[in-house]
Amino acid sequence: MSTVALKEVTKIWPDGTTAVDNVSLDVQDGEFMVLLGPSGCGKSTVLRMIAGLEDPTQGDILLNGEPVLELPPRDRSIAMVFQDFALYPHMTVSENIGFPLKLSGIEPTPRQERVDAIAGALGIGEVLARRPSQLSGGQRQRVAMGRAMVRRPGIFLMDEPLSNLDSGLRAELRAEITSMTRELGVTTMYVTHDQAEALTMADRVAIMRKGVLQDVGTPTEVYRRPATLYVAAFLGSPKMNLLEAAVYVHLDQYIALSFGEQTLYMPWNDPRARAVARYHGERIVVGIRAEALTPVTPDTQGPVFQGRIRFLEHHGHESLAYLDIGATAIVVDEMSGPVTETRSVGGGFRKALQRLAGQTPEPVAPQGRVGVLSEVGKHHRKPAELAVRLAPYPAIGPGHPLAVSVRMDAVHFFDERGDRIDVGWR
Ligand SMILES: Nc1ncnc2c1ncn2[C@@H]1O[C@H](COP(=O)(O)OP(=O)(O)OP(=O)(O)O)[C@@H](O)[C@H]1O
Ligand SMILES: [Mg+2]
Repeated sequence: MSTVALKEVTKIWPDGTTAVDNVSLDVQDGEFMVLLGPSGCGKSTVLRMIAGLEDPTQGDILLNGEPVLELPPRDRSIAMVFQDFALYPHMTVSENIGFPLKLSGIEPTPRQERVDAIAGALGIGEVLARRPSQLSGGQRQRVAMGRAMVRRPGIFLMDEPLSNLDSGLRAELRAEITSMTRELGVTTMYVTHDQAEALTMADRVAIMRKGVLQDVGTPTEVYRRPATLYVAAFLGSPKMNLLEAAVYVHLDQYIALSFGEQTLYMPWNDPRARAVARYHGERIVVGIRAEALTPVTPDTQGPVFQGRIRFLEHHGHESLAYLDIGATAIVVDEMSGPVTETRSVGGGFRKALQRLAGQTPEPVAPQGRVGVLSEVGKHHRKPAELAVRLAPYPAIGPGHPLAVSVRMDAVHFFDERGDRIDVGWR
């Protein structure tokens, strides 16, 4: 059995850089956990602390429930494949893979058996006699993995092991890595900055930004219910449409989400209505993935955006239309720091109740807080180009009007700080 637990782990480098900020994470036995985030967010630092190559500034690391900070790397039953893996150039593939076994004093015959078995599993059985310089990039990568796996570690740490490879080989090796680690039942932590790779490989994904853990869950969970605006913006292709909306509550009737020129209405009996109603008179971010948008005829009733195609992108199996709907998009700045502002946003609902008590439900002009998203300064705004999926090579083109209906139950809501508004069930 092999589990990994990080307990409120922080790493501050001597120059004051906080690389990892109070991260707590549990990896189950046999689980394939992917650490996902942009360059510099602290992924490698997390792995290096687990491996024992760096010490946390604060917090604790447990392997199999036991604190390991006092244990040197070699006693942690961990194997690691690095971003910039290196093979011994003067050794053959067979010798490279068998080297850790040789160091542990294993006899040549059982050593060779283990090498042959793992090389076979990795599809490099044919090249065992070659030197690294005589291999392709993908083969070298497999040798590095074989060398890491050959001692049958309890925990396998992989730091962007496919980053140097072309996309075809990456896809092939992705499938091989997941099937191999699952077959062996080895607990794996796999680092990548590629969201597609994370979603296809992981049992669970942990998403980091600037050292802070943003969300943890199965690929379906983090995709369907991202905990923060940042996670919403990071996962999925095309990127989630993130639109700024002003909220107007018509008590007991509906909530109007005003996108500038157009408005969507959320019925009062929507389970999320009360949570969104707290933002009456304020601006929030509404997230709509392309799959929640369906082209319809312009006279369709219900939640519909009327737009005009700005441009088309052809992807072979589908085309993406980008619509001008007169709305404002929020662009999440991936590399900016975590938004630490703690301003209260709770008073809106009470204000709304007071304003609307006994009054006719006329829209109330937004006051005071409108524009607050730009004050936060971590995101910027631009005219929205709403990404919509179309059949390949559609008959319509740029300049054409297009109406799209919005699946309201698939819409996401985030507050000015980027936190999901309707937290709760998953
Ligand atoms: N030895 C070090 N001394 C000082 N700062 C460091 C050191 N190693 C890393 N850092 C900094 O810590 C932060 C996190 O680095 P880390 O290597 O963990 O990022 P990463 O998520 O693995 O990025 P990448 O995807 O580019 O590999 C970065 O700001 C980096 O510059
Ligand atoms: Mg790294």
